[in-house]
Amino acid sequence: PGVIFSGIQPTGVPHLGNYLGALQQWRRMQDSAAADTKLLFSIVDLHAITMPRPRGLLRQWKREMFAALLAIGLDPSRSIIFYQSMVPAHSELQWILSCTASTGYLNRMTQWKSKLSLKDNVSLSSNEAKQTLKHGLFSYPILQAADILVHRATHVPVGEDQRQHLEFARECVTNFNHTYGTSCLVAPETILSPVKRVMSLRSPLQKMSKSDADATSRILLTDSAHAIKNKVLKAVTDSQDGISYDPVGRPGVSNLVELASYFDAAGRTPEQLVEAEFGAGVSLKALKNRVAEAVDAELAPIRERYAEYLAKGELIDRLVEEGAEKARESAEGTMRLVREAVELGA
Ligand code: TYM
Repeated sequence: PGVIFSGIQPTGVPHLGNYLGALQQWRRMQDSAAADTKLLFSIVDLHAITMPRPRGLLRQWKREMFAALLAIGLDPSRSIIFYQSMVPAHSELQWILSCTASTGYLNRMTQWKSKLSLKDNVSLSSNEAKQTLKHGLFSYPILQAADILVHRATHVPVGEDQRQHLEFARECVTNFNHTYGTSCLVAPETILSPVKRVMSLRSPLQKMSKSDADATSRILLTDSAHAIKNKVLKAVTDSQDGISYDPVGRPGVSNLVELASYFDAAGRTPEQLVEAEFGAGVSLKALKNRVAEAVDAELAPIRERYAEYLAKGELIDRLVEEGAEKARESAEGTMRLVREAVELGA
């Protein structure tokens, strides 16, 4: 019997990259899982506090994310949906793992290195560096490993950008089990979504991201048909004529072709789609219109359900409590073995 676990940061309504790279996959796995497979999906508020945010927003963002997960089709009677901070075992295991985790490995993490390199020309003791380089960002992958290992997850569906963190989680298992001569932690398998990276509509060499200051770079699951159309029509492409699929040479156009392919009813690859439908004489505008329509057709029912769920405050309150209760029970089984192995507790 498998255990599927994944997590998402509560930064409000998810974007199309989250949806295609993760959430859609979560729903599919839920809907096709064997009856004895356990599924857990966490809204990781402890990870979210590694970055500063205006006061009052975290609660709102968590609720919005919870409503969004329901809206995309996660079913709380099948999947355990919960706020990470309501299950203290996640932080407890993080500390325990940090005592066998290698700082050398953490130093090589690309997300951490990209934070460091932003500061390349700034001394590490400068005020700017002190304000951005927090220990929580450095140990972020240990908490992520704890999220997964505390439920003894066997499969973790994520987008490409999380692959390295998953390798680190497996390393944590090896270090812990070896140090304590136990096999109580289980090495999880990464399930990469077929959609690896959805790129920004404004700078197509970067992934679509919640932290981009330009809101037109991403499509939110709640965007109206009008907003979707505007963003897609304004998507940055290039000055070449016609449509071709060449992610290196023509990243903007290729991102749009990929989007058209993800939503293609016939399931054709980008190459097949260009060959069959976007030959000579078809304008970029036609491609953009098609992408906008396809995205809207997918998102319209989701944004309706989202609005319905968000209006049902009491339902969400109840589901939040129930999810946390089930997740605590799931984690406790592992923690008993871990405390025993480490000789913690009475
Ligand atoms: P987060 O919140 O940044 O993203 C959630 C999921 O969305 C995927 N994703 C994308 N996929 C394709 N294209 C994009 N442009 C794009 N942007 C985001 C991510 O790969 C991810 O699957 N550290 C994690 C959260 C986390 C977690 C975990 C995940 C915490 N604990 C345990 C798995 C298991 C994160 O920040 O994801």
